[in-house]
Amino acid sequence: MATIDPTPTLETVTQPGTTSFRTPPDLKARLKNSYDVIAPFYNQWTLSHRAQRMDYATKLIHFLQRDNRQTGQNGDSADNTDETELEHPPHQHGDSADDTDETETEHPPHQHGSPIPSLRHMHALEVGCGSGVPVLEILLAKEMDVIGVDLSATQLALANAHFPNQTSGLQAVWAEEDMMDLRYPPDEFDVVVGLYSLIHLPREEQTVFLHRVFRWLKPGGMLLMNFPVEEVEGAITQHWLGHQQGWMFWSGWGEEKTMQIIDELGPGGMEVLLREVTEHGSTGDKIMWIIAKKRRV
Ligand SMILES: C[S@@+](CC[C@H](N)C(=O)[O-])C[C@H]1O[C@@H](n2cnc3c(N)ncnc32)[C@H](O)[C@@H]1O
Repeated sequence: MATIDPTPTLETVTQPGTTSFRTPPDLKARLKNSYDVIAPFYNQWTLSHRAQRMDYATKLIHFLQRDNRQTGQNGDSADNTDETELEHPPHQHGDSADDTDETETEHPPHQHGSPIPSLRHMHALEVGCGSGVPVLEILLAKEMDVIGVDLSATQLALANAHFPNQTSGLQAVWAEEDMMDLRYPPDEFDVVVGLYSLIHLPREEQTVFLHRVFRWLKPGGMLLMNFPVEEVEGAITQHWLGHQQGWMFWSGWGEEKTMQIIDELGPGGMEVLLREVTEHGSTGDKIMWIIAKKRRV
């Protein structure tokens, strides 16, 4: 009988460095409390950065469509929507996207004339999905089946309200959980998304989580994630976005060590399809965006 690899843990995963920062023991509860209060405020603030997330979600869609076309997996029907007719045009940069520095980008395809492969019923997971806008909205428009996970009940209530039809039809399922508590079998998802969310995990957990995502992805499945470019052992602010209850925590390995982790995932590894760095318009922070595909071995 085939044995299933055990779930990667802090004990079994090799870290790219050490951390002296002491993470508060009640980190997850504090993050949950903060987002429960500031979610509407955060969602309003982040509207000005919305175009950038739409841009990367659209690029992900294009990579999935191209991969399906190349492997002949057209889903259960072809989607005759031309890429230019997507609900959300891919190149509307807001103020935050002006300083895009394309470091390692393979441009998504623009092949016209052939039907666009359907992504219907592809299985997608978004961790730290917030209100589901705009990324889950784009995946749902492609008729994917999605699971949105978030620590914050407020965020998930907003997601529920945004997508009543998909929620009642079970095309969208919401889970109020710490992403580190998720357990799925291997080869479960076609897509895993984590935008501005792994950044809230202690960085050793980020490594573990990436190993788990690799395991959950089907061969040919893709991740879309972003990470801080600068290395941050741990940073805490008491009043993020000027909010009285905006206690917040972030961390990250930085660009090179994060890429090292992704490059060392295995067996078989990931093919990096897109790696770009953008500057966050309002804060000046540099963010690395990754789209990577689990190799078929
Ligand atoms: C900065 S917001 C990003 C939301 C959305 N992805 C976006 O791009 O607008 C981070 C979200 O991650 C959630 N989050 C933070 N830590 C989490 C964890 N350990 N597990 C699940 N969700 C988490 C927060 O509640 C919050 O909704």
